[in-house]
Parts: sequence; structure tokens; C-alpha cells
Amino acid sequence: MYKITINNITHDIDAPADMPLLWVIRDIVKLKGTKYGCGKALCGACTVHIDGKAVRSCSIPISAANNQKITTIEGLSKNNNHPLQIAWRKENVPQCGYCQSGQIMSAAALLESNKNPNDTDIDNAMSGNLCRCGTYLRIRKAIKTAAKIGEQS
Ligand code: FES
Ligand code: FES
Repeated sequence: MYKITINNITHDIDAPADMPLLWVIRDIVKLKGTKYGCGKALCGACTVHIDGKAVRSCSIPISAANNQKITTIEGLSKNNNHPLQIAWRKENVPQCGYCQSGQIMSAAALLESNKNPNDTDIDNAMSGNLCRCGTYLRIRKAIKTAAKIGEQS
């Protein structure tokens, strides 16, 4: 039995030690915002935070997440009003949308450590998050917009 806290709710999880955290989030806890892309830590669609750090939930076994605090896209803000969520809407970032929760979670970890990232900082932090629709330029713009919103709030 494992104990993990997701978006401030603690769950007792009865699962095999090697079950990926992504399956726990999606199939057991039923939070579907975090997506499966590659299952091999290559695309970033499954990005969540563990203790504020962006991680690939497809490649972390539940045993390694025991007693940890996890944040998914559903827990990023109370009313979808995180500066990144406001900026994503303002800049109309998503196309199909599939990669976007992972993009936002990686961007949120970036802004936690760097309140005013430049293009290089953004490209370095976001390079592991792939977007088949090619929304990269809008993502970069929205991260800068979010940084400005964050400054004002
Ligand atoms: S599904 Fe986890 S990195 Fe692609
Ligand atoms: S918006 Fe379609 S994969 Fe990124």
C-alpha cells in the first residue's frame, strides 16, 4: 500500500510497485488531464510536479512516489487562474491540446525557479515537451505573458 498526496488530497493506493505514477493518476485517481504520449520519458505529455519539480509521471513507479506531494494540471490553481492558464487563453496557445497540460506544468516549474525567463531559458526548460501541432512559438510568447502577469499580481 502506498500513500501519495495528489493536489492536496492523500490517497492510499494498492498497486504493484512498478505501476507508473501516470496510471495511478489517470486510472486509479481518475484525473485525466495528465496525458500519455510515449511512455518512455521522451515527450513530456505526462508532466506533473513532485514537490514542485517537473517530472515525467510515465517513468516514475508508484514506489518512488510514496509519501510524496504531487501536483497535476487540475491542482495548479483553484479557478484556472494561474498566470500561465490566463496567458495560455490570452495567446490562444493550444491547437489539438493534447500536449498542453504537460507544457503548462513544465512552464510552471520554470517560472517557480525563474520569474523572468528569456528565450534561451524557455527553450532549455521546454525542450523536452514535444508538440505535434508545432505551437512552440505561442508557448514561448505565453510564458513571457505569464511572467508579466506574475509580476503584476
Ligand atoms: S508519456 Fe511520459 S514523457 Fe511521453
Ligand atoms: S497542441 Fe497538439 S500536440 Fe501540442
